[in-house]
Amino acid sequence: MAELFAVEPALASAPVSASTSASKTSASKGSTPASKTSAPERMKWKYRSLKLIILTAVGFLGLIFLLHENDRDTTLLPTQESAQEDRLSHVLSMVPLARDYKQVPGCTENSTVVNVSGFTQLPDHIKNFLRYRHCKEFCMILDVPNKCGGAQASKNVFLLMVIKSSPRNYERREIIRKTWGVETTYQGLQVRRLFITGVSSNLLEARKMNRLLQLERQEHRDILQWDFYDTFFNLTLKQVLFHQWMEEMCPGARFIFNGDDDVFVHTYNVVQYLVGLASTNDSHLYVGQLIAYVGPIRETWSKYYVPKQITNSDSYPPYCGGGGILMSGFTSHAIYKASLDIELFPIDDVYLGMCLKKAGLAPASHMGMRTVGVSIPSSKLDAFDPCYYKELLMVHRFMPYEMLVMWHALQDPNLVCGQIYKIYLGF
Ligand SMILES: *[C@@H]1O[C@H](CO)[C@@H](O)[C@H](O)[C@H]1NC(C)=O
Ligand SMILES: *[C@@H]1O[C@H](CO)[C@@H](O)[C@H](O)[C@H]1NC(C)=O
Ligand SMILES: *[C@@H]1O[C@H](CO)[C@@H](O)[C@H](O)[C@H]1NC(C)=O
Ligand SMILES: *[C@@H]1O[C@H](CO)[C@@H](O)[C@H](O)[C@H]1NC(C)=O
Repeated sequence: MAELFAVEPALASAPVSASTSASKTSASKGSTPASKTSAPERMKWKYRSLKLIILTAVGFLGLIFLLHENDRDTTLLPTQESAQEDRLSHVLSMVPLARDYKQVPGCTENSTVVNVSGFTQLPDHIKNFLRYRHCKEFCMILDVPNKCGGAQASKNVFLLMVIKSSPRNYERREIIRKTWGVETTYQGLQVRRLFITGVSSNLLEARKMNRLLQLERQEHRDILQWDFYDTFFNLTLKQVLFHQWMEEMCPGARFIFNGDDDVFVHTYNVVQYLVGLASTNDSHLYVGQLIAYVGPIRETWSKYYVPKQITNSDSYPPYCGGGGILMSGFTSHAIYKASLDIELFPIDDVYLGMCLKKAGLAPASHMGMRTVGVSIPSSKLDAFDPCYYKELLMVHRFMPYEMLVMWHALQDPNLVCGQIYKIYLGF
């Protein structure tokens, strides 16, 4: 898949100076008429030199204008208040909104859903889900086709960390890059990292966020972005698009960690665990926090509310909590194949359970995967004691700064567990 737009840093910097000088000029121009009214002798020199400055500035501005004649957005002399906003929008106008791209024909809304009984009473996000449920093809805005070294070489990737991240979660991505998501080798085994994302559904934010992701991809080569709105009910779509991408770009990766950007992963333990599995080649693995014997929540106030119009069934197949899942490349492929025949379901981890069921595979529980956090035996003990995390593979949910502190504590060769060991955060 081609990278749809390359980043040109040079383009971004030039217009900034153009509109900055424009605003400066307009500000000084505004003050001229006052000194013009009565021009006493001693003011003349001042006035002349002011005039000279203005003329020079206007000339300079004209030059800049000529240099940037081809720019779409040549608003001259913006008022000072709007200057900053204008400068930003000028830079951002060069970042196409994903919607500007039409390589993949946009999927059209299913207009017959309005006739589904009770449709008008449904919350907007559910209406939207039903309207676009059939759309599974979206074009890529940012790609890293070489992440696994190409399809052939991808078998050398031992663990691919695939983290679902919303465009605005920049700080979380930065910390993950520095901590548990660092691309390195453990015992000679390659670990690679990817963030998967869509487009901000807030149109005011979308351009800024697209630009941010463009810059991050340029610097870290770890962003996959598709042209769909990154909303909670579109997380399944994100998951399905990722499995599609895997088929083409990284079919040989041995294992995949798939999780959220607010979990903490003990990567070393994960690699140890995976190495320790007997005959791990081409076999099924799908572990996490196992959830079974549950069904759709029918309370309208819930984030997980799934009405009858989406599913009539009162039970979900067993699945693993979506905060963090470990699977094999084999299982990722099985999920992909099953997903071709299963219509999208708004809760992503449940959807994966449906795919497994169809593929005849079962999810399993791993005690080290804690998507609902750890329970601390006594309130007197520090929940942040790294000894609780030493044996775990993954814990939900961490603040970015906690990830950094915990990651370093776990690297500490002097970390002795069995004794009380605490991290002092300094507050
Ligand atoms: C919805 O149903 C009504 C009555 O059956 C029908 O006239 C109308 O064309 C339907 N609308 C759509 C979009 O299918
Ligand atoms: C559109 O929605 C109706 C009602 O839910 C459904 O029966 C039909 O299969 C949908 N069409 C497509 C193309 O998904
Ligand atoms: C999912 O993304 C598509 C494409 O941007 C959008 O049309 C749809 O409304 C989104 N669905 C939800 C439930 O947000
Ligand atoms: C699994 O595959 C790797 C790489 O292809 C190979 O080095 C290893 O020996 C295989 N292990 C088993 C148990 O077959």
